[in-house]
Amino acid sequence: MGWLAALERLARARAKAGLTRQLRPRAAGDPMIDLAGNDYLGLATHPEVVAASAAALTAYGLGATGSRLVRGSTEAHAALEADLAGWLGAERALVFSSGYLANLGAVRALATKETLIVSDAYNHASLIDGCRISAADTVVAPHNDPAAVAALLDSAPGRPAVVVTESVFSVGGDRAPLADLYAVTSARGAVLLVDDAHAVGLLGPAGAGGVAEAGLSGRDDVVVTATLSKSLGGAGGAVAGPATLIEHLIDTGRTFIYDTAPPPAVIAGVHAALGLARVADGRRAVLSRRAGQVVERLGAAGFPVARPAAGVLSVPAPGPEAAVAWAADCRDRGVAVGCFRPPSTPDGSSRLRLTLNAGVPDADFARALDVIVECAP
Ligand SMILES: Cc1ncc(COP(=O)(O)O)c(C=O)c1O
Repeated sequence: MGWLAALERLARARAKAGLTRQLRPRAAGDPMIDLAGNDYLGLATHPEVVAASAAALTAYGLGATGSRLVRGSTEAHAALEADLAGWLGAERALVFSSGYLANLGAVRALATKETLIVSDAYNHASLIDGCRISAADTVVAPHNDPAAVAALLDSAPGRPAVVVTESVFSVGGDRAPLADLYAVTSARGAVLLVDDAHAVGLLGPAGAGGVAEAGLSGRDDVVVTATLSKSLGGAGGAVAGPATLIEHLIDTGRTFIYDTAPPPAVIAGVHAALGLARVADGRRAVLSRRAGQVVERLGAAGFPVARPAAGVLSVPAPGPEAAVAWAADCRDRGVAVGCFRPPSTPDGSSRLRLTLNAGVPDADFARALDVIVECAP
């Protein structure tokens, strides 16, 4: 078949460039030291989280049985949304079945065809796709450059505008200058949309995230998106902001309306994780200590790593094949690390991506750093 032959040609080109990807199913309780997952606070397996999820599974059954507006909204969803809004300091929050879909819905809701979207060059694929499905013009701003954002906004005076950024970037692990960006957007009547995926649970008072850390919670010109799949250990996404925006999403958000609701058992587990995350200062202190440790150990071995703003960082690799081999050698020695290559890296470079996990014992973490250094290409 011609179309399959065309796909095979593309697969050969990917293989030649070292860009083939592979699924590696893991067994329950596998003994790998996890520096690759996003369970930053180690809550995915917390007994209270598992118990809350199991109770909801028994009460509601496996699935939500419908979209949020049909049969999919349960009391578990409503309770989580109320507490999420309180935690993030927003008027209201709305839960989606993934962070990806929350981002698609949020960007699209904020933009019409008159809108100018200014999107950071290192934004996650879900934000980029949100810009693509919106009817708006999107311009890409240089990474973390508020002056460039200001110039782009000033080039379209009077036009409704949205500035889109992450608070902690998902590959590099660096922090966005949120206060400076907000000074730029608020002075020009633009909305600031912040994807707090890698900061919620990690930064800010009671782990309320990067927007809370920057003192921007609850402003009516700031919208927050988050995922329930990282520090909260479950699955799902959320948009938090003014009640009017949430009502708009309920009435018009395609990725909210035309999608089966996330399962109540997952939502109840996430809700229990939220309660734990609020009081997880001890776990956050472990992550902060490890952020220093990783920079010290890898820095001493000659790797140029910056101290992560929260729990994610990356280590440059000489190329895609070297990154794959490095990650494979680590895996063979019992350490799971992320291997990021184009198109998953914003700057086109290949790297290991390391994520800190407060659930990993200290000795395992130290051993994992040794293994990463010893396996380096
Ligand atoms: C910055 C960022 N935003 C959004 C997402 C999507 O979230 P989810 O996995 O819940 O779809 C991710 C990663 O998964 C992410 O890293």
